[in-house]
Amino acid sequence: MMEKIKKIGVMTSGGDAPGMNAAIRSVVRTCAFYKIECVGIYRGYEGMIEGDFTNLNARSVKGIINKGGTFLKSARSKQFMTKEGRKKAYDNLKAAEIDAIVAIGGDGTFTGALVFNEEYGFPVMGIPGTIDNDIFGTSHTLGYDTALNTVVDVIDKIRDTASSHNRLFFIEVMGRDAGHIALNVGVGAGAEEILIPEEDLGLERLVDSLKRSKQSGKSSSIVVVAEGDKTGRNVFELKDYVNEHMPEYDVRVSVLGHMQRGGSPSCFDRVLASRMGVRAVEDLMKGKTNLMVGLISDKIAVTHLEQAVKGKSEINQELIRVSDIMTT
Ligand code: F6P
Repeated sequence: MMEKIKKIGVMTSGGDAPGMNAAIRSVVRTCAFYKIECVGIYRGYEGMIEGDFTNLNARSVKGIINKGGTFLKSARSKQFMTKEGRKKAYDNLKAAEIDAIVAIGGDGTFTGALVFNEEYGFPVMGIPGTIDNDIFGTSHTLGYDTALNTVVDVIDKIRDTASSHNRLFFIEVMGRDAGHIALNVGVGAGAEEILIPEEDLGLERLVDSLKRSKQSGKSSSIVVVAEGDKTGRNVFELKDYVNEHMPEYDVRVSVLGHMQRGGSPSCFDRVLASRMGVRAVEDLMKGKTNLMVGLISDKIAVTHLEQAVKGKSEINQELIRVSDIMTT
């Protein structure tokens, strides 16, 4: 018979995302509700390897639901990729009598959790936390909604300068492998063009489209570019290319960078984090493991971690069509 879970470890790993604190809070309070002990693991797998743990109770997580980042801190651990690192982590978890882990993070975090489970049979549940929204098995990862709102706000501001000076702006947003942020903020902020890793627009088409916009009476333009876009040129090279082919345009570049990852989580992310944390703990209590808690058709649902890692979060084709029509 399965042993009752008495102590759960919670950690955040990989790039931080708004809503991670809210998810930790939810895991801790759900544990308290069910009278399970909860331990915070600092800096993700790094803290696991070093035994950097802290006991958490319902009051330890007060006042954090509205805070960006993660108070448990985060890291991308190279040591955990080694057998020796994982052995140390296992020994520390055992010594602290931790029976299961809730890992909040992205692809890399879940891959680590899977390997660990395979080697040591350690129960793990994943909660997707990354602004990129690039995880299969959930329509929204934690932090994504907040990042969209942050970026739209900034693009609105840049638009003021673009239109005052009749300029063309290339704005680089995060998403090294996924264009979800770029596509959504592009539509939300009324960008003239959106370049994403999933579709290769081609440089000629870009210039043609910008020329058409100018001929149709537009005096300024915004082009949103995802970090990992497929043109093979970064925003500065894109600027040079357009300068060369459209010398009449005054072109500027704005790389938004890490400001997209910070800030107070949106209400949506706080609520999602709260729902996900409850489900993660309750599933562990039922003896489940190797699952990721996600949001599918607005319902909390689980996906096997392996599928979450291997599956592809498809770009919304309807949104591409909407964007094409909106830029007429
Ligand atoms: O995965 C989230 C993300 O913000 C990506 O969009 C970005 O490419 C990457 O992290 C940046 O990572 P770092 O903070 O390690 O530079």
